[in-house]
Amino acid sequence: MDLARKAQFFTLDVITKIAFGEAFGDLEHDEDMYNYIQSTEEMLDVIIFLGTIPAFNWLISFDWVAKMAFPSGEEATGVGRLIAISQQLIGKRFGPKAALRQDMIESFIRHGVKEDELVSESLLQVLAGSDTSATVIRATMLYLISHPSTYRKVQEEIDAAVRSGRASSPVIRASEVQELPYLHAVIREGMRIHPSVIGTIPKVVPPEGDTVEIDGKRVFLPGGTNVAYNAWGVHHRKDVFGEDADAFRPERWLEAKGEKLGYMEKTADLAFGWGKYQCLGKNIAWMEINKVFFELLRSFDFAIVDPTKPWKSECSGLWKQSEEWVEITDRLAL
Ligand code: HEM
Repeated sequence: MDLARKAQFFTLDVITKIAFGEAFGDLEHDEDMYNYIQSTEEMLDVIIFLGTIPAFNWLISFDWVAKMAFPSGEEATGVGRLIAISQQLIGKRFGPKAALRQDMIESFIRHGVKEDELVSESLLQVLAGSDTSATVIRATMLYLISHPSTYRKVQEEIDAAVRSGRASSPVIRASEVQELPYLHAVIREGMRIHPSVIGTIPKVVPPEGDTVEIDGKRVFLPGGTNVAYNAWGVHHRKDVFGEDADAFRPERWLEAKGEKLGYMEKTADLAFGWGKYQCLGKNIAWMEINKVFFELLRSFDFAIVDPTKPWKSECSGLWKQSEEWVEITDRLAL
């Protein structure tokens, strides 16, 4: 199967279930329901371009440009359809007959988020939380498959947890998966060596300016300056991660201790941004990713169909990845 596609079916189902209370059903139907994936891939370049160079945002003040670049909610497929679905599903949660549920939407409502705000909030979660997590699954699996000793070691840790009754079935609990240090190191390493978000997402220095410390020196940044960072460069820094920073080696996370480990972790955490604009789905992402790797490796063995063409991967700030053809053996049936 094409792991690139299935990974996004999975993350979309997870995030739509969380954001709207109902999953899209991509995995069950084995298809890109409402052509959502296709449409976001088509829009991605525009979104990243405007996000990276906000000075061009005036372009969307022209109606015809906005119509070409962005959906209105009236389209039958893609993100436009998603807006309509979002309005419909969120609408069900308001009004006199609204069902009361114990979920994230209920919590948003309890905290005073209004219906139209909730529609855009849910949409934002779907856009922010599906591509990103899918890239972690695709890239980390590819690195794992191509590093057999690492693959064996992480699978042994998982099997040992299952044998000793430390892993609930059919899906491991978040608290149990925390107890698997090598699996955690593998995921950290996968996210480091192939960050999901490469787009610079600049932040603007406030009008009065700000003084920051760079390499031990205090530096004044004038108001209005755009500050951003190069994710690929930062996550491959040899002074932070070691001389072999370009290699996939999860052991680095277990060998480093104290201050050094803290510095590595803080740097790697930049994958989610930092401060007031950081990723709001970070905890959910960790829970989802920890569980998915455990369950994939507990149940199946993976091999690349054609090692000369492992996948198609294109970066425009976020990744467009496809054709990651893998052969799968059902371990539980052996
Ligand atoms: C491994 C997976 C993920 C990565 C690497 C990731 C990374 C990021 C990054 C870099 C940002 C931008 C931060 C900034 O502006 O500086 C962001 C924003 C955001 N993410 Fe994530 N994300 C992931 C998964 C998720 C998930 C699963 C959700 C939803 C449950 C989510 C929801 C959001 C939201 C709502 C924002 C916008 C925050 C704001 O502008 O205030 N993300 N994410």
